[in-house]
Amino acid sequence: KTRARVLGIETSCDDTGAAVVDSDGNIVGNALHSQTSVSVALGGVLPRYARAIHQQHIKNVVKDALCQANIQVKDLDAIAVTVKPGLAPCLEVGLTHAKRLVEESRVPMIPIHHMEAHALTARMIEQIAFPFLVLLVSGGHCLLSVAKDIDDFLLLGTCLDSSPGEAFDKVARRLKLKNLPQCNGLSGGGMIELLARDGDIEAIPAPNVHSDQNASSFSFAGIKSQYLRYIEEEEIKQGIVASHVISNASDMCASFQYAVLKHLAKRLQRAFIYCDTFELLPEHNKTLVISGGVACNQFLRQGLQKVCDHYNSRLICPPPHLCTDNGIMIAWNGMEKLKAGRGFAEDPLTMRYTPK
Ligand code: KG4
Ligand code: ZN
Repeated sequence: KTRARVLGIETSCDDTGAAVVDSDGNIVGNALHSQTSVSVALGGVLPRYARAIHQQHIKNVVKDALCQANIQVKDLDAIAVTVKPGLAPCLEVGLTHAKRLVEESRVPMIPIHHMEAHALTARMIEQIAFPFLVLLVSGGHCLLSVAKDIDDFLLLGTCLDSSPGEAFDKVARRLKLKNLPQCNGLSGGGMIELLARDGDIEAIPAPNVHSDQNASSFSFAGIKSQYLRYIEEEEIKQGIVASHVISNASDMCASFQYAVLKHLAKRLQRAFIYCDTFELLPEHNKTLVISGGVACNQFLRQGLQKVCDHYNSRLICPPPHLCTDNGIMIAWNGMEKLKAGRGFAEDPLTMRYTPK
């Protein structure tokens, strides 16, 4: 037998993903069914509805990934599946399917933490030794942590209220950007990034996020509600009706995006200072990995690159298709655990999911 192969299954939010990776980090099979367009239309992820769509697609998505990899379930070395955190009705679909596969094949199961999988995906494509700093920015989460080992993370900060992805989505929705032809098929964040390219980042300045909070925790609710208010005021001023978009939407997007960047950059700066003080990162070989759906944003990446340059850290961002939710990151996390020989579910058929 040559290389080990692990199947990964992801259903924690609104993407049904399955992939097979080998021990060298090659993606040998990958399938994804995304509900993004449904979520954009509905204005968010509705758990019961998302569950029904996962149920419709899980079987074929897994079958596709296995077919591409040209492997049968019984020949896999492990089945990795997201069991936390996420939406309970959605996690349940993936876990139930994984149990079924395990039951018929006796292949070991490896339960996966969705955020840890996001954090370690970059190791599949780059040489990154532990410890390194991770910033995850997505629709569900925002956190900064030091990855010390495959199963050892020191959490430096999380979001106290809205996630950055939610802020992007709400602002895009309030601006009615999905009515613009160029925004067709994009997520809320993608729409804002696109419009922001033609906007002035200082046109509509944001309030300062209070900095009397703990070290590296994040708060996006203030920025979000401020821009929602600005948009409402503009609509009244411009006499906007129905589905029309305000004339200065680009400036609104650029300024909002800049406000998000400033907040992320400040918290990242604190994290670097903290890590330097307590010597948590190797002095001459610091790495920051950013991932999660919001990390697809090129403007944010470029801004955070400047912070990294200042603190002598390299910045690694996986390509966009590895930043958003997918089966690959779950399969890879399973592979890392398989290689380390730990993290197997002792009694897979009674394994449970944990939403938080
Ligand atoms: O990681 P992800 O696919 O799902 C979660 O686990 O949450 O992230 C989805 C989020 C959405 O809120 C979406 O609007 C945001 O990522 N997003 C972006 C961009 N592309 C996706 N936010 C900002 N800029 C982008 N280019
Ligand atoms: Zn995610």
